[in-house]
Amino acid sequence: MKGVLLSGGTGTRLRPITHTGPKQLVPVANKPVLQYGIEDLKEAGITEIAIILGNKGRDEIQEYLGNGSRFGVDITYIVQGEPLGLAHAAGCARDFVGDDDFVMYLGDNILNQGIEDLVESFQAGDYGAGIALQHVENPTQFGIADVDDGGNVVQLIEKPDQPPTDLALIGVYVFSNEVFAAIEELEPSWRGELEITDAIQSLLDSGHQIDSHVVEGWWKDTGKPADILDANRLALDERPGSRDGEIEDGAEVSGHIDLADDAVIEDGAVVRGPISIASGSTVMGGAYVGPYTSIGPNTTIKNVHIENSVVIGDSEVTTNGKIVDSLVGRGATISSSEGLLPEGRRLTIGENSNLKL
Ligand code: DAU
Repeated sequence: MKGVLLSGGTGTRLRPITHTGPKQLVPVANKPVLQYGIEDLKEAGITEIAIILGNKGRDEIQEYLGNGSRFGVDITYIVQGEPLGLAHAAGCARDFVGDDDFVMYLGDNILNQGIEDLVESFQAGDYGAGIALQHVENPTQFGIADVDDGGNVVQLIEKPDQPPTDLALIGVYVFSNEVFAAIEELEPSWRGELEITDAIQSLLDSGHQIDSHVVEGWWKDTGKPADILDANRLALDERPGSRDGEIEDGAEVSGHIDLADDAVIEDGAVVRGPISIASGSTVMGGAYVGPYTSIGPNTTIKNVHIENSVVIGDSEVTTNGKIVDSLVGRGATISSSEGLLPEGRRLTIGENSNLKL
């Protein structure tokens, strides 16, 4: 069994964060989203992994993952280029997969319970594909499965106007080699993409069995800023916390604290977990870092009260105000304008930024 991890696409819904890098490298609890996929594949015993690259962020992804040895896997890079659809991306991996079966994992998805059950169940039967499903509140935004009373998949539709069920295809699929023949026959959908949902429907139509699982643990498609904050909250809840860094006397620290070994919480700072603070970062006296916050590397937190937020890194956050529910891009500075005349907020805002003042 091989792994194919999709890292193309444009990341438009995560702008401006994705103006400078691919969405799959946005950190959740200080770990790039893509790395969760690599770890899940490895845990399921899959170490030969192809990373499908788009036009954006190719170099950054290759620089971060390298040949995979740091993660105990063997990585091959395949360039898809334009995002012509998930089935097109899978098709790019045909030579890499050879005669094997494979897991296709969407690089912007995170599952907390891993993929071992899905892989084992697929291997135990004679299936064309194995799919993971979850009940969702907004079924028009996903691929949806219609399942009969016996739990058998009878139809799959991509982003239907009138969803027959609320069971969404989540971002992990297991495929037999037969899927490549189905992909070859596909026509682009209404959104101009070769849909993997249509490829699975075609496997079904040609008499293949589809194995399906309703996944109980949480799952997040991190396509939008609010999803990153949700995923960060869920992932931090599960981090055991490791206080490797320095907590000075006089700092008030409680809850699960994931503190990298050269991060510092100074005297007079208040930090309430679950939180994660990456290497080279300092929370200075007088600052408050509240639950569900991840502070990336080389960042200074001073004065501010910040909670339920992700600061990606290389930042100075020193304002006197409160920051909540925020996603702060790499290299951003947020300082105070107090004392400066004329009074008011002073902003240097990138394209597609989103502010609530
Ligand atoms: O998140 C689950 C949903 O993912 C499923 O319910 C849908 O059936 C499936 O089509 C997909 O929908 P999205 O519209 O959310 O997919 P998105 O365009 O966000 O792409 C998912 C990942 O695949 C993302 O990491 C980018 C990558 N990708 C996407 C396309 C279209 C590629 O690598 N190449 C592509 O051509």
